[in-house]
Amino acid sequence: MTQSRLAVVILAAGQGTRMKSALPKVLHPVGGRPMLGHVLNVAAALGAVETVVVVAPGASEVEALAKAHGATTVVQDRQLGTGHAVATAQSALAGFDGTLLVLFGDSPLVTADTLSRLIARLGKESEIAALGFRAEDPTGYGRMVCDGDRLLAIVEHKDATAEERRLDLCFAGILAGKAETLFGLLTRVENHNAQGEFYLTDVIALARGHGLDASVAEGSAEEMMGVNSQGQLAQAEAAYQVRRRNELMEAGVSFAAPETVFLSADTVIEAGARIGPYVVFGPGVVIRARAEIKAFSHIEGADVGPGALVGPFARLRPGAKLEEDVHVGNFVEVKNATLEKGAKANHLTYLGDARIGAGANIGAGTITCNYDGFGKYHTDIGAGAFIGSNAALVAPVKIGDRAIVGAGSVITKDVDADALGVTRGEQKIQAGAAPRLRAAYKARKEKTKKG
Ligand code: UD1
Ligand code: MG
Repeated sequence: MTQSRLAVVILAAGQGTRMKSALPKVLHPVGGRPMLGHVLNVAAALGAVETVVVVAPGASEVEALAKAHGATTVVQDRQLGTGHAVATAQSALAGFDGTLLVLFGDSPLVTADTLSRLIARLGKESEIAALGFRAEDPTGYGRMVCDGDRLLAIVEHKDATAEERRLDLCFAGILAGKAETLFGLLTRVENHNAQGEFYLTDVIALARGHGLDASVAEGSAEEMMGVNSQGQLAQAEAAYQVRRRNELMEAGVSFAAPETVFLSADTVIEAGARIGPYVVFGPGVVIRARAEIKAFSHIEGADVGPGALVGPFARLRPGAKLEEDVHVGNFVEVKNATLEKGAKANHLTYLGDARIGAGANIGAGTITCNYDGFGKYHTDIGAGAFIGSNAALVAPVKIGDRAIVGAGSVITKDVDADALGVTRGEQKIQAGAAPRLRAAYKARKEKTKKG
């Protein structure tokens, strides 16, 4: 797959006005990862020796993302069109004489496999290769005018004749060729068109004029889609989710209802894990083999150990670490807390900033009171401890190994290993008081009705 000398230019300077959003278009996420991040990953997978991201002035977040991926950035002072944007990158590639691949930061679903196929078309027969797809609704896309295998021109939708608009082969915004050839042709691109822009797409017709051939590699419409609006962003997200679910199923993960599960780009689920319906995975999640996530659970920044049982209706927040065979049941929230092997919190509980020792049992309604409005404090629960229902553990506090906390207790002092900690009002019994109380209540109700 790796080309010995490949440079990638990613266009990311467009204003993205059609998104109607304050966030730069290429930073809108798909699977929780900015679109540009997906494209940068693909460039890396292709083994590009140089990646240049073309950014708008002042787009510091876009620059930071590019740099975090080891890419160079160049600023396009004015957004004069895609052709102008690629030409801007030339200064960052001085002396580079290999293959140049142009990608768009707003086409996040393209894969390294498809791009390798595109690059493989370059050779004696074709100096430029462009990626196309058959769109069900080609509105807005550039149309590829072909003669057999040869690509003659790409015509932008706004400039196309009625006949050209009927062509369904659309340009994906991705093309490759010798760097020298492409930069040379770009100097000849003009802006006499409907949008008054310097179009990258014009290099195709110009190449023909210079006796150079261009060809098309086709990919699926879903993979090639460009995101220009919120509606298209949602479509890209849906397509990406289908792809990720299929990847995981192929790798041996069971989904009861895959179409209802939301995954992040970095979600790791090991073979043999089982995922129930309506589960959401935010960023930073690892689910180990044999673990089962039951319906309606929301999980982010969490590591779920082998054989662990989570949900239904569980919430795991960043820093939740569940070791082997841990059970976290319905309406349990875990944040920055480790539950060691075999520990159980089956119902209605908040465990934050805590360690729960191996085999400990946390009763329904237990709350670690970790926050006093100013600072966060730690709760440490020993191995084999038993916390009775509705206990409030006021941190910082330590419950020793095998200790027992009585139901309903508010624990403010440490409980030693093997000790019982209980704080509770004394219980009183009044024999036969229940019928008297009912009679009194009934009389009061009748009095208010009459009055
Ligand atoms: C472009 C193509 C069209 C293709 C479609 C595929 C051109 C002229 N048109 O249209 O043929 O079917 O993509 O999705 O190339 N950008 C810059 N600087 C600029 C202008 C744009 O960096 O001056 C960047 C944008 O940030 C974006 C990309 O280039 O990432 C494409 O620009 P966009 O305005 O979305 O082009 P389309 O109208 O989608
Ligand atoms: Mg676009």
